[in-house]
Amino acid sequence: MIEFFEFQMRTRLLYKTGLAGELADEVAQLGRSRALLVADPGVVQAGLLDRVRQGLGGAVTVVGTFTDVPSDSSVATVERGAAAVRDSGADLLVAVGGGSALDTAKAMRILLTEGGTLYDYQGANLLNRPLFPMIAIPTTAGTGSEVTPVAVIRDEQSEQKLFFVSPYIGPEMAVLDPEMTRTLPPRLTAATGMDALSHAIETFVGIGANPITDSLALQAIDMISNYLRAATHSGNDLEARGQMLVAATIAGIAFSTTGIGVNTGIVHAVSHTVGAAHHIHHGTANSIMLPHGMRFNAAVVPNRLVRIARAMGVNAGGRPEEAVIADGIAAVAKLAEDCGLPTRLRDVGISQDALPALAEGTLMDGAIMSNPRPVEYDDALALLRAAW
Ligand SMILES: [Fe+2]
Repeated sequence: MIEFFEFQMRTRLLYKTGLAGELADEVAQLGRSRALLVADPGVVQAGLLDRVRQGLGGAVTVVGTFTDVPSDSSVATVERGAAAVRDSGADLLVAVGGGSALDTAKAMRILLTEGGTLYDYQGANLLNRPLFPMIAIPTTAGTGSEVTPVAVIRDEQSEQKLFFVSPYIGPEMAVLDPEMTRTLPPRLTAATGMDALSHAIETFVGIGANPITDSLALQAIDMISNYLRAATHSGNDLEARGQMLVAATIAGIAFSTTGIGVNTGIVHAVSHTVGAAHHIHHGTANSIMLPHGMRFNAAVVPNRLVRIARAMGVNAGGRPEEAVIADGIAAVAKLAEDCGLPTRLRDVGISQDALPALAEGTLMDGAIMSNPRPVEYDDALALLRAAW
């Protein structure tokens, strides 16, 4: 029975092949005159930042760039970025990159509007007015950061991830241009795509799921199951690149609009933990854990797992529920394998001795709160052992 839900999205979304290189008209409408570009070094190297800069034409003057963004952004990075904006006199941020670059810009806007330190705004709903304006142009199809009202920033001191969640954190405009993901290498294409699939699946089974996020999640699962292989193995296939880019954005909208802040689950809880402790890539860790998380949750939401299986292309007609669920989980594992991703924790350098500490860390991670099945220490350890 539906009792209550909330759905809100603030970001204006635009999709077109080549759009990142012809943004002048859209940007002119924002009424801003001085832009600062935020990107990671890989984006600069691939020539993507130049494409955006040229595409801005005369709509705004580019008064600076901040490209010192590591793959795992930090509080210090955000502070340096905000200082660069203040020095430049910019009145608009244009962020180009993967989740780290986009999240860095999102966190920079908090400092630029509210002042103080990031620690003052860590948590949910601590912002109450529009922030320094921002355009997001993703170069990966995975995190959904271009639309989510969330920024995740590493705190160097505690070695923990800080979460900032507020509707005001979502960018004013997101530009989806499959040309911008064309040069992403196969391994990163696959891993970020499996991150998006994890968002869709964890939202669909999560405690925050509502009819709107259900429709988004199932559509994203369908698109990813059909296009991730082609995007991974034929990087120049713009149809596959475009489908994956949209699917990741849809999954991002789904997990961040359930009304409970961020709805992920056990898979992300493990992934955050192995990411912080062993620097395993977020999407790769999710990909390894996803089949195990699905099997764990099947006990409490079997009907949901059947619908996921169908969205993965499994024929459910007249067959026992358990068989359909098993095929759905196998389809997810097969997708990761076909895309060349590691399938076990031992494959990414985690030793068996590390598992008990990882189980403890998993229980402490906030993502566990939205998992449909309560997780005890023994459950987490069993899950990690199964994935090892
Ligand atoms: Fe994720």
